Amino acid sequence: MEKILITGSKSRAASRLSEFFLQNKHSHDFILLEPNRLLFDITNRDAVNTYLIKNKPDWIIHFAAITDVKLCEKVRGSTKSLVWRTNVVGVENLIESCKKFHIKLIYPSTSMVFPGLQEFPGPYNEVDMPEKNLSLLSWYGATKAVAENNIRASEIEYCILRFSSTTRAKFIERKQDFFWKIMQNLLNGTKTSYFSDQYISLTDHAELAEVIRQIICLRKTEQTLHLSSPNITTPFEVARYLATKTGFSIDSAHASTLSSYALDHSEQEVRRFFPKYSGLQSQSSQETLGLRFKTWEKIVEAFVHENNL
Ligand SMILES: NC(=O)c1ccc[n+]([C@@H]2O[C@H](COP(=O)([O-])OP(=O)(O)OC[C@H]3O[C@@H](n4cnc5c(N)ncnc54)[C@H](OP(=O)(O)O)[C@@H]3O)[C@@H](O)[C@H]2O)c1
Repeated sequence: MEKILITGSKSRAASRLSEFFLQNKHSHDFILLEPNRLLFDITNRDAVNTYLIKNKPDWIIHFAAITDVKLCEKVRGSTKSLVWRTNVVGVENLIESCKKFHIKLIYPSTSMVFPGLQEFPGPYNEVDMPEKNLSLLSWYGATKAVAENNIRASEIEYCILRFSSTTRAKFIERKQDFFWKIMQNLLNGTKTSYFSDQYISLTDHAELAEVIRQIICLRKTEQTLHLSSPNITTPFEVARYLATKTGFSIDSAHASTLSSYALDHSEQEVRRFFPKYSGLQSQSSQETLGLRFKTWEKIVEAFVHENNL
């Protein structure tokens, strides 16, 4: 029986996790702890330690983070900001505690630790290291890159799990995401432009839950794994496919390019917010875990099916 603490269990990415762990046939293998921010504020080292001493988890799956890319950018460079204190110091607090109490850490990371530049293009593989020149990354990506490196340099048992834009179990209006933004535009009848020259991969939230279960069961620590569609797509292709699968006209989605967007925005902003050659490779992780990940088309189809769209 493994005792698992999930931070940020109400996050978009973790939206299916507890349901999956508790409702399927593996539910007897796990005890889940899902404290909210009031009980387990990762920026408060004493509160973290007090909770861990009392509850003694075997694993922490650390989803909690500040993920709003625009908000993070506003405090770029500040190590006093809540963004840094959450995404970097918060992870340092957990590393300290994991070391002290022999807890294993699963750290969800992102393709945004890579620059997506032609000189170092994706799709990136598991052994690629985060970009060292933080000025090439969004500040969100930079904080995730620093945290990844700190975990790797620590002496704890960890698994870094990078994934791409993920679907989520339920639509929550206040938290828009890649898939629901497109869906909302289709439902509202808003004709929208999407980049046809930004290369990305996608992640399925149910697969995320299964991969985390496998990491725990197979004790896949001391490594970096990827969870993403084995094939690459573009936001434009995804929007058109989603329109087709939900009975909307494909004309609801127009193609636009990063270069045309750059006419009205700074080159730096475009590069940092929309890495052009992004995406993750996942072949090696699929072999390690003995799983086959869905293609991006199957991920979109699963999203449509689950939400009865
Ligand atoms: N979403 C994606 O497509 C994606 C892709 C790749 C990687 N990831 C990674 O997956 C994780 C979750 O991302 P998300 O986009 O799903 O996040 P999200 O929806 O923005 O949720 C973030 C969560 O972090 C919690 N949190 C923030 N500060 C905290 C603190 N000081 N102490 C405790 N909890 C705190 C929030 O709690 P409240 O509910 O109280 O605000 C919220 O539950 C992140 O680590 C992110 O880097 C996500």
